[in-house]
Amino acid sequence: MLHGPNPYRRMLMPDAVAEVEFHRPLAAGEVTSWRSLAAHRLLGTFYEADTVLLPEQGLADLRADFDLFYSEELRRLREASISDLERFAYSFLATEVDITGAWTIDALDAYFQHAATVSEQGESAALTAIAQARRPEVAADTYLVQLALDGLTEASAMSKNLGGAYGPEQSALFKIFIDEFGYGVYESKHTTIFAKMLRSRAMATHVHAYWNFYLAGPLATNNYYYYLSRDHAKFFRYAGAVTYAERVFAPGFVKMIKTYQAVFGDDIDLHYCAEHAHIDEHHGRITREQVLLALAERHGASVVPELIRGIAEAELFGRWFEDDTAAQIRWSDAIDRYRERGAAALSGGGEPRRVELTPVSPFGTRSHDGAMILVLTEGEADLVTSATGEPDRLGRGDAVLVPAGRTYGVRAISPRCGYDLHPTTAE
Ligand SMILES: [Fe+2]
Ligand SMILES: [Fe+2]
Repeated sequence: MLHGPNPYRRMLMPDAVAEVEFHRPLAAGEVTSWRSLAAHRLLGTFYEADTVLLPEQGLADLRADFDLFYSEELRRLREASISDLERFAYSFLATEVDITGAWTIDALDAYFQHAATVSEQGESAALTAIAQARRPEVAADTYLVQLALDGLTEASAMSKNLGGAYGPEQSALFKIFIDEFGYGVYESKHTTIFAKMLRSRAMATHVHAYWNFYLAGPLATNNYYYYLSRDHAKFFRYAGAVTYAERVFAPGFVKMIKTYQAVFGDDIDLHYCAEHAHIDEHHGRITREQVLLALAERHGASVVPELIRGIAEAELFGRWFEDDTAAQIRWSDAIDRYRERGAAALSGGGEPRRVELTPVSPFGTRSHDGAMILVLTEGEADLVTSATGEPDRLGRGDAVLVPAGRTYGVRAISPRCGYDLHPTTAE
């Protein structure tokens, strides 16, 4: 179920990707859909192919994969399609976030402070779901998995904004960047201490071990920062977004520490959270004063709407990250209830889609754009809905309701196994 320590190979579920109509861009309401998950898996891989990924254990067995991942052929493929894929994934933002009218620097600051306060005083949907879960440990791990998406390659998108010449604001951003990198001390690098937190939960620490368990909302959020960083026409949006992110991290991690201590007591290493609760106080201040407001002062009114757009979009993605994770936690935590709902909602209907598996079928996960009832028609299988929880065993005739956007994998237990997928209007 986990990916091995090979950063070059990721399960994309090619058959299921083929269902996606890429000519119709995503709408705002589709961020947690299968279309979104499929596109963001690709997009994230494209972005990361522009960073240096080397496995901890050395390249010995992976030289050929390294060569292929960074090959000219794949680079040309990427370059030819990445802008279209970005348009597919993010063009809805232009209409979803409406920044019209004249904005002063004071209005920018007021907007920013308001957004930060709303986040600080609001509750985290994912942390609430963890606290209410029947199996809070599994739920807490699900959230760690989403954080690992960025945690194990932290500040990679930021690194793309460090080149060039843009005055004191460049140095301010660089100051934050070197903090993320532990001032050049590997043991203090945020990624290193994130891995420590995973290890304390006996979880894997190599990059994208949990690839199959990243959700669409968190993927779209992580990719958003790459999207803004790859194209410097979007630099001011990036500045707004990163200011918002750095500002809300500190209070967010204070809440996370409370929830995780309640779940695990002292059995988890929360150094990563404590470090961010502390240093992002600082980063939030630096980005506001020395990046956001300083850029507005220096470059004038024309950049202010873009700075605001970045703040507003970062806020939106932050919410999708939380809501998607919370929805997955709740579903995965209550599969018994969704078995009942699936069985109750099952009635004739249209032609179901048939899927067949054997124990050697490669494992992958997916979601659907609409709700489905999964019915096991042959053999025995495990339904996998979390990275660390016990899978739910399905026997012949068992049904489960899979709400729109919920991510799952099926692993065959018997030599042959098959299931049907029935579209449903049940929720
Ligand atoms: Fe950090
Ligand atoms: Fe930071």
